[in-house]
Amino acid sequence: MKLTVKTTSQNLVKTDLLIVFGREEASLKLPAGVTVPPLAIRSFEGKEREMRLTDATGGPASRVLLIGVGDGKPIDPEILRRCGAMAAKKAEEIEASAATIWFDLPTGKSPESLGQALAEGLTMGSYHLTEFQSEAKPTHLKRMTLHGSPTFNTGSKRGQIIGAANCLARRLQDSPGNLMRPRDLFTEAKKIASSKDHITLKVIDEKGMAKLGMGSLLSVSKGSSEPAYLIHLIYKPKKPTNSKVCLVGKGLTFDAGGISLKPSAKMDEMKYDMSGGAAVLGAMAAIGDLNPDVEVHGLVPTSENLPDGNANKPGDLVTAMNGLTIEVLNTDAEGRLILADALSYAKTKIKPDAMIDLATLTGAVVVGLGHEYSGVMGNTPALIDTIIESGDRTGELVWPLPLHPRHTEEMKGSVGDLKNISSPGAGAGSSTAGAFLQNFVGDIPWAHLDIAGSAWGAADRDYQGGPHGTGVGVRLLVDYVESLS
Ligand code: BES
Ligand code: ZN
Ligand code: ZN
Repeated sequence: MKLTVKTTSQNLVKTDLLIVFGREEASLKLPAGVTVPPLAIRSFEGKEREMRLTDATGGPASRVLLIGVGDGKPIDPEILRRCGAMAAKKAEEIEASAATIWFDLPTGKSPESLGQALAEGLTMGSYHLTEFQSEAKPTHLKRMTLHGSPTFNTGSKRGQIIGAANCLARRLQDSPGNLMRPRDLFTEAKKIASSKDHITLKVIDEKGMAKLGMGSLLSVSKGSSEPAYLIHLIYKPKKPTNSKVCLVGKGLTFDAGGISLKPSAKMDEMKYDMSGGAAVLGAMAAIGDLNPDVEVHGLVPTSENLPDGNANKPGDLVTAMNGLTIEVLNTDAEGRLILADALSYAKTKIKPDAMIDLATLTGAVVVGLGHEYSGVMGNTPALIDTIIESGDRTGELVWPLPLHPRHTEEMKGSVGDLKNISSPGAGAGSSTAGAFLQNFVGDIPWAHLDIAGSAWGAADRDYQGGPHGTGVGVRLLVDYVESLS
């Protein structure tokens, strides 16, 4: 689907479907020359997410879809994101190949963020997962033209980029584990680097990891015939800058648990264990198009976690890049093992001003927060606050979880320095996992987002939901990076 942005002073061209946004308690304003049966207008109240489809009686469109945004003053961007997705889905449902969207409503102080939200919704709502079905229906909607004010359109252009990046992350998430292996994530990273002018790619293979002493990351891939990679994308802005951030995403392309094998029910969902990595790749792709004035590093440690004669065994001791020894008491707590070395690498080789990791790290966060929130914890309250604000702006909600000295204590080893699980009954599984990670970040401002609940399984929000991945993290990370520039 191609989205073109035009102003409301430009003429409408012939289209299958014209989509017009209306408010509650305000009379509907159709573009000049467009007419519909009076009853369609009379029966349309403009309520939030209300839709009314009608034939056109005059003008360049065959049909007209009226969509309500409610009476919010100002309009909530999340409503527009949802309405955008509803519009795209309706256009597809009626098999329109071209749709025109007309947005001519008061935008208050933030036309840009509303334009962004609407374009995000249109793009995210056009996501289809059909590439694995032999007889999938072809998609009809090929072109959309969005008419808005010039400042609204500035936002729309950004929203289109961010929406496309969300779809990229979802495609990586939704791809089956045998088709999205560590080497495939690496290929995806190569595609991003080669298609963006200011992004380069470094990769550390298993040999390089051994040289760097990444015994923790390497211990996880030992049980798989697929080699691990540490993907490192680097975005450098045109103008040199002093500000540098690092985004780290867990890229476990399949987590069977290893020797501490998971139960078979729902094990298939563990193809989503690379969702943090997908978010980082998606965010890097958007950053490459948006060109913020911040140096951004995207790190994705990627591996499978399988049971095998070479796999980690409960009780094994591994040594991380920073020299700390870890008792692997449960091979299913592998995310923290691969992140340990990725974070150590970031700290010593990249030395960012701040780093954020995203990981489907614990089942506990799903119990505590469900699917609508990601949990956040870290060592710098101001960074955590900034992330929560980005979450509120983007609709990717985030809730703080504690890191307490007791949680740190829980992760101390009895044979080695650390153990990878807390003692039975300690509780606070997401916080103890976070406390484990803290051993590898030193004093770099750091935040950890546990996205095990939010990465898939969220209730339908029009632009996402259902049985597929959500692409969570892309919008939030882009907003965070842009807030620095
Ligand atoms: N990938 C899982 C976390 C997970 C579980 C994500 C359920 C989504 C849904 C992670 O590697 C894991 O297995 N964590 C264990 C840790 C435990 C052994 C301390 C968990 O949460 O059960
Ligand atoms: Zn696991
Ligand atoms: Zn995992």
